[in-house]
Amino acid sequence: MGKRTWIVLMTALALGLLVSACGTNDLATDLTPIPTLAPGETPALVDALAQTPATQEATAESEGGEDALVAAGEALFAPTCAGCHGAQDGAGPALTGMADRAATRVAGMSAEEYIHESIVDPSAHVVEGFADIMPKQYGDQYSEDELNSLVAYIMHAGSAGGGEAEATAEATTEATEAAAGDPAAGEALFTSTCASCHGAQDGAGPALTGMGERAATRVEGMSAEEYIHESIVDPSAHVVEGFADIMPKQFGTQFSEDEIADLIAYILEQ
Ligand code: HEC
Ligand code: HEC
Repeated sequence: MGKRTWIVLMTALALGLLVSACGTNDLATDLTPIPTLAPGETPALVDALAQTPATQEATAESEGGEDALVAAGEALFAPTCAGCHGAQDGAGPALTGMADRAATRVAGMSAEEYIHESIVDPSAHVVEGFADIMPKQYGDQYSEDELNSLVAYIMHAGSAGGGEAEATAEATTEATEAAAGDPAAGEALFTSTCASCHGAQDGAGPALTGMGERAATRVEGMSAEEYIHESIVDPSAHVVEGFADIMPKQFGTQFSEDEIADLIAYILEQ
């Protein structure tokens, strides 16, 4: 009998005991025999049971678990961080190249260590040229798993070469998803939040009239969806000629990706 089979049998035995225990009224007395069942074997069983999820995790990691981690990080980053960390420097340093810079920021710290510290303790190293305005609660707000996913995403999207190309691909995917937004919901948001600056004609901001069409031609290599998305989450990335950089900067954090998709769907129809 192989070790594996033995472990399975032991597990079945232990589970069987548990099940039979549940069938009686006196749980406490009936459960006590489990640890005393086979004193020498119990630790092995506990070990075996504890190892199973770890093994599964390792397998998952080699089969795209890393991708899943990056995707989880992106889902956090987009609504929470992208407002300050866009494609270019804004309120915070650009996401573009962030992983490469992280590797060189503090002597003796790996890129991952530095990024992790930057998130949980942003004041520890304040990047030159920026103010110490990054929110300080992420270390309490996020679990270690969530923090790891953020680090994985930044290592992925913030590195030169493959990372940036894929970041563009991700932006395109985002834009495609955005195209599936609900224009009616977008109109409601726009009327309450944006119309004061974006009316039928140019005002404090460019006119809503024709905004969707102009978006397609604003930045070479960017689709209308991508450009509108960026204009909302990172308004300083491209400031329209003839206008000041006064558009509020918090929409990327204020709105969910779904709400932003609704806004884009509405603007594309204009
Ligand atoms: C209100 C704006 C703001 C938000 C929101 C924000 N950051 Fe920052 N972040 C900054 C600023 C400003 C800096 C540079 C100053 C500093 O180092 O604290 C910075 C620095 C960083 C750095 C170091 C970058 C470098 O080039 O060395 C990392 C990594 C980082 N932020 C990650 C995040 C993550 C992840 C989130 C979301 C969970 C986030 N930030 C949310 C403003 C912000
Ligand atoms: C306080 C005024 C103000 C508010 C409120 C405002 N914007 Fe803007 N917006 C501007 C200005 C000014 C510009 C042009 C300068 C720039 O590109 O940042 C602009 C530019 C844009 C552009 C690019 C337009 C173009 O022709 O290239 C889009 C898209 C946009 N805003 C969408 C929105 C959305 C969506 C909202 C609401 C969630 C909003 N804005 C709220 C002032 C505002």
